[in-house]
Amino acid sequence: MGFFIIALLSLSATFLAVGGDTPDVTQSVASPVPPCHDWGESREGAVQVLEGEAGWLDCPLFSHPTIYNYSSAVAAGLNLVWYHMAAGQDLEQPLDFHQPDHRLSKERDRLWLEPVISQDTGQYLCMLRNKTSCAKIAVRLEVKPHSQNPGCEVASTVSSQPVVIPIQEGKTLSCPDVPSTKHSVLWFYVSTHPSQECKMYPFWDKDREVQGNNLVVHNMLELYQGHYYCVVTYESKGKIMNFTRMINVTAVSPSGLPKEPMILNPDKKQVFTVKLGSDVYLKCKVKFPYLEGSKDMWWTIDGKAVDNLDPRITSKSEQVSYFFGDVDMEDVLRIRDFNSEDLTREYNCSARNQRGSSTCRAVLEEEVYLPYVELGCGLGVTLFVMLGLFLVYQVFWLELLLLYRSWFGTDERFTDDKEYDIYISYARNSEEEHFVLMTLRRVLENELGYSVCIFDRDSLPGGTITDETLSFVDRSRRLLVVLSPGYGQQGTQALLELKAGLDSMAWGGQLRVILLQYKPLNRDSWVRELRRARLALVLVRWQGDKSISLSSRFWKRLRLELPVRRMKSMKPCEGSVVPQKDTPQHIQREHNAVYYTL
Ligand SMILES: *[C@@H]1O[C@H](CO)[C@@H](O)[C@H](O)[C@H]1NC(C)=O
Ligand SMILES: *[C@@H]1O[C@H](CO)[C@@H](O)[C@H](O)[C@H]1NC(C)=O
Ligand SMILES: *[C@@H]1O[C@H](CO)[C@@H](O)[C@H](O)[C@H]1NC(C)=O
Ligand SMILES: *[C@@H]1O[C@H](CO)[C@@H](O)[C@H](O)[C@H]1NC(C)=O
Ligand SMILES: *[C@@H]1O[C@H](CO)[C@@H](O)[C@H](O)[C@H]1NC(C)=O
Repeated sequence: MGFFIIALLSLSATFLAVGGDTPDVTQSVASPVPPCHDWGESREGAVQVLEGEAGWLDCPLFSHPTIYNYSSAVAAGLNLVWYHMAAGQDLEQPLDFHQPDHRLSKERDRLWLEPVISQDTGQYLCMLRNKTSCAKIAVRLEVKPHSQNPGCEVASTVSSQPVVIPIQEGKTLSCPDVPSTKHSVLWFYVSTHPSQECKMYPFWDKDREVQGNNLVVHNMLELYQGHYYCVVTYESKGKIMNFTRMINVTAVSPSGLPKEPMILNPDKKQVFTVKLGSDVYLKCKVKFPYLEGSKDMWWTIDGKAVDNLDPRITSKSEQVSYFFGDVDMEDVLRIRDFNSEDLTREYNCSARNQRGSSTCRAVLEEEVYLPYVELGCGLGVTLFVMLGLFLVYQVFWLELLLLYRSWFGTDERFTDDKEYDIYISYARNSEEEHFVLMTLRRVLENELGYSVCIFDRDSLPGGTITDETLSFVDRSRRLLVVLSPGYGQQGTQALLELKAGLDSMAWGGQLRVILLQYKPLNRDSWVRELRRARLALVLVRWQGDKSISLSSRFWKRLRLELPVRRMKSMKPCEGSVVPQKDTPQHIQREHNAVYYTL
């Protein structure tokens, strides 16, 4: 039996071991007791047998014929003795070969159990000895219950060497361990296909048939992969015995295909870009077509194996795919902290199997530095800044325009010969009059440093109103119209001022009309001139208490429409404040100013 052969014996066992640790064994030997060399338990593992079937154990000592040879041992007068130590016990019992049913028997170095019963489980010792020398080794026997459906149970117990059959090729399967005496074989099959799991059935068809005791596969298909069971029946000592074996059959790629290893990566055209100072990974990928025997792949650097080089360099290989026996393997070479000297070396990946070998060089190239990150960041920052500016403009456009004007705007005083910056036109005796005289005028003159003309204050008594009005409007840069419900009614001075302003603006007389709304107004009540002009004119709205502060939107908006004044000129100490004329009206109006200067 193939699996009875023991490849390795314990080398750690000491040659000086004394057999005294097994008293009942040594007691049965005539004195003086020879020291018994104990090889321990066979490394091959337990022997598995199904209950009720025939089983046997070969003494593992003789699996190393150069050390122990059965024929020469017997010729030298050595005896082979078997002992059994049942599971859970620590006493070795000599085996009784004289039972009436002849269940146990010995044949050369083989112990037969025909059939195996469940109590046979345990350790078996085979001891080779004469008066002066002794050696022993243990082997374990496992008895598996025989299930009603052996297709499933047996598969996990007694199996033999796997068998591979190339697709569309044939192979003859013979049952392992068949005795040399007369016997018969029955074949069963359990497909590994999930739907057919645990089913045992005869499978005769044109591709597979039983010839004699063998099973012949004429034409292998993927479908025919699976577990093939053979039950061997023979006669021994007047009893009919049987035992079951399983053959694991797998399909592999046809043998007619090329079988040389093929290096997929690196290929001829591939260039590995490497970055100095970083870890470099070179991946070699090899296709090994199905072939028996060893296969290997490895990296060399300047012709030297990787293991012999410095610890910065390591390699790791693994199987990455399996397809009908063809496997793809990968070996990744890792070079830590890649330096310019590494760049000059020759990196070769090689692969070899029983049919041939192949080598491919990995071409390395230093990575050209492309500041992607920096470019990306730069672009991001630019976009961000633009977005920020856009938002800032949305929120602070008034301030920005004012700032711009204060830097780049031209002071109209240098380009014209006008006397006043602003002429304020308003309806007399209205709510707005109070606003004009107390707030508007004060801020424009005292705080913003404009020269303001208010007809009632600045005109000299005695002149014709019409002429004087036209003259004043003409000498002003802006006409500030303070709208009120009754503004510009027929025959009022305000209408005159408005008309003069609009005319001057229409004829390009360097005058601009600005509308100022103190309180929400119904436009239907506007005079015709105003309604017509509205589209071309700017309207600044007073927002009540919100607009009192000089930094409010109202004042900024208004300043934008008024002539440019440098910040400096706004300071009262350096102001170009128009000297106030002490007209009677003026003095009279100033009484109320106390209210505001509080
Ligand atoms: C064992 O010894 C015999 C005779 O000494 C020899 O004919 C035989 O080949 C040997 N067996 C092995 C496996 O070495
Ligand atoms: C016992 O066996 C050993 C080794 O096989 C041999 O050298 C020795 O002569 C044998 N002793 C006797 C008494 O036969
Ligand atoms: C094998 O032998 C056992 C015990 O004699 C019996 O129950 C079983 O049916 C046999 N199996 C076959 C396939 O002959
Ligand atoms: C049979 O072989 C296949 C492929 O080699 C494997 O995956 C499976 O585990 C094997 N089955 C047994 C029971 O050993
Ligand atoms: C590396 O491989 C190339 C072919 O890709 C070969 O020409 C060269 O001789 C190999 N170098 C070594 C040191 O094996």
